[in-house]
Amino acid sequence: MKPNQNPANLILRNGRLIDPGRDLDLVGSVLIEDGKIVAVGAHIQIGAQRLAQLEQIDATGKWIVPGLIDMHVHLREPGEEYKETICSGTRAAVAGGFSSVACMPNTHPVNDCAAVTQFILKKAAEEGLCRVFPVGAISTGLEGKNLSGFAELQAAGAVAVSDDGRPVESSLLMRRALDYAKTFDLLVISHCEDLGLSSGGLMNEGPVSTRLGLRGIPGAAEEIMAARDILLAELSGARLHLAHISSAGSVALIREAKKRGVCVTAETAPHYFTLNQELLSTFNPVYKVNPPIRTAKDIEAVKAGLADGTIDAIASDHAPHSSVEKDIEFEYAANGMIGLESSLPLILGLVREGVLSPSQAIAKVSLNPARILSIPFGSITEGAPADLTVIDPQAEYRIDANTFESKSRNCPFHGMQVRGRAVLTLVDGKVAYTA
Ligand code: DOR
Repeated sequence: MKPNQNPANLILRNGRLIDPGRDLDLVGSVLIEDGKIVAVGAHIQIGAQRLAQLEQIDATGKWIVPGLIDMHVHLREPGEEYKETICSGTRAAVAGGFSSVACMPNTHPVNDCAAVTQFILKKAAEEGLCRVFPVGAISTGLEGKNLSGFAELQAAGAVAVSDDGRPVESSLLMRRALDYAKTFDLLVISHCEDLGLSSGGLMNEGPVSTRLGLRGIPGAAEEIMAARDILLAELSGARLHLAHISSAGSVALIREAKKRGVCVTAETAPHYFTLNQELLSTFNPVYKVNPPIRTAKDIEAVKAGLADGTIDAIASDHAPHSSVEKDIEFEYAANGMIGLESSLPLILGLVREGVLSPSQAIAKVSLNPARILSIPFGSITEGAPADLTVIDPQAEYRIDANTFESKSRNCPFHGMQVRGRAVLTLVDGKVAYTA
């Protein structure tokens, strides 16, 4: 099949249907007519005449899952189109199996007003291959001084607010943000970082940073802000989501807060359960990211947090940079890694390791992010537009960043032998990607 902008009339047959929202895990089929999901199940009754009019896709040995959702990406448009555009970023998304992405506001200009949110949505409608959900800024210009207009941002289509890339340093401003967001039931996404502790840091702090002579960032830089924001969420009753959780201490804080009934959710990224700080001894800037990749103990804690539900979602934190910012001395290189086209096999690796069941793994990139963002996707629902991903869980290959749709190449997983990939991504009933 070729990517096709027409709504599909097709049947996906004999795949393993995994839909955590309906607690479904069985071999069956999905019937799609005029781009809408019409029937789902083990035995769909279709007359021979109707069948003859459908494109049939044999999904034997494949998984059929809700269209995947990456709730934390940087699309870089407007302002840094040489790194990524809404067009290239959404192409990368569908190639990675994602039918929806939420994009962070640290663009140029910052997405702190309706005009920028509307621009992103307009571009996405014109050129995007997947759904794009803009996240507005908490503070104007991400400066941490004045709150942006949340009502205006939400009315324009923003699904959450965040100063991602930077923390909200002032506890008072963060409190006001949570109080203000609560009145609109708007989600606040926190980038947890104490800038005093992380200042000048290049990697995780510990014996390895000492050995390498690189200034360290302690786990406490993340944990102090996670603790503060949990307390402020408790005070306000607002919905708080903690982005890119990387440290064992943060996982413990979130676990304890959830037990207390605080309205907090969290995400981690594949690099935090895959990459160990020892890789920094190569001084390769591809491994430079904020928060930094950490220790084996942190990796185990993140996995345990995913397994017991403390960490609700997995997001790529796709952060494209050009070689001008990335292929330079470690100290000066930009923070960030691309991830849209490498996340899925790494998440499936957690299934093979026995950390997550297939249904739990899919929930972390569909049902859970949809619930957190309050968007009506993430499940296979009759009558809904067909957002679906077909995965070949057995496909073995070497990740080759040179074949990526993303404009950037800062992929720390380049060359890694992996298993599992998206072979078909349907968005709004249209074929957005086929392998
Ligand atoms: O490593 C990072 N890169 N962390 C962030 O929080 C921001 C991101 C970016 O925008 O490049």
